[in-house]
Amino acid sequence: MPASLEGLVEEARGAVLRPLAEASTLPPGFYTSPDIFEAECELVFRRNWVSVGRASEIPDAGDRFRIDVAGEPLLIVRGKDGEVRALSAVCRHRWMLLGEGAESAGTISCPYHKWTYALDGSLMAAPLMEKAEDFKREACALPSFACEIWNGFIFVNLGGDAAPLAQSLVSLATEFAPWKMDEMEIVGRIEFDQSYNWKVLVDNFMESYHHFAVHPETFEPNYPAALSYTEETGAPYAVARMPHKDDVLAETLFKPLDGIPDRARRSFSVFNVYPSMLLAVLADSVIWYRLEVESLDRFKLTIYLLAHPASLDVPDADALKAFLREATWHVHMEDLPACEGVQRGLMSGAAQAGRLSHLEGAIHAHQKWLLGEFGRA
Ligand code: FES
Ligand SMILES: [Fe+2]
Repeated sequence: MPASLEGLVEEARGAVLRPLAEASTLPPGFYTSPDIFEAECELVFRRNWVSVGRASEIPDAGDRFRIDVAGEPLLIVRGKDGEVRALSAVCRHRWMLLGEGAESAGTISCPYHKWTYALDGSLMAAPLMEKAEDFKREACALPSFACEIWNGFIFVNLGGDAAPLAQSLVSLATEFAPWKMDEMEIVGRIEFDQSYNWKVLVDNFMESYHHFAVHPETFEPNYPAALSYTEETGAPYAVARMPHKDDVLAETLFKPLDGIPDRARRSFSVFNVYPSMLLAVLADSVIWYRLEVESLDRFKLTIYLLAHPASLDVPDADALKAFLREATWHVHMEDLPACEGVQRGLMSGAAQAGRLSHLEGAIHAHQKWLLGEFGRA
């Protein structure tokens, strides 16, 4: 770690690594320093599993989509064998990005000089290369990265040595089992370009302390800030619970599956599967915030609305999907000025680490975990 970072990390340890009641946030430099961002890419995003999409987005052989993880261009593609792979999207000839041009379903063809790869990344054809001596197609396959599907979500681990996801998320898998998330379909998708550090949104998503100020009409009347709480998970994710004010079984839009516990209708829960997979789990649906981190102060946010096909067996399902989309968009529009305001505040020379409320335990847990990842360097 460069010496310039060590001071900042030491300062962060002093602020964060103490009981919640005594803790402060990470120092502002953690949100604004290019060196920290570079270290996060290396130590956090490349070393851990990062969620990139839903398996149902690429149901058939040849289906694919492009995404960057820690600046690494990836092509997520389903092969003829049915496997989902995370291939490098960088052509082995002269580095053109693959997958953004017109494609034939059975191959991956570079738009620049038409080198053509099979769906498993092996190079099948390279036009007009016969005079290149010792040119071996076998030596020009696209590199591939570790890829796992968990609950229908596609994850990638660039470093290749993260422990299997299922192993580290056993308790979460047990809690999620009644939702049958692997069978859920995408009922809505909303995309935003965001201009603030990715952790600002993670922090915002994982606390309901701001409900009375930022969501006075949407959340606070039924899910008041003061009732929310967090739990220690002992695993690489954080959780915050938002109980209904009257402890009643809340109305749902869609039909909750049989087996969804009553508890999930008396409260909803938000999760951060580290580093940055944000999930709101409701009795009848799941809202996933996918963050595609681009730089220190930019990321693409894609909000996926997910529901089980059996839950959608209700009158006017399409109108309810549209309502959910509208409501989700509206909530993010309430959060956005706060996130953008925080970013401007973070850039100030007067900004310092701030003390945390007892309602911000999930932020504290995430920041402790991040410092642990820096410590593994
Ligand atoms: S850069 Fe891909 S074929 Fe030339
Ligand atoms: Fe919010």
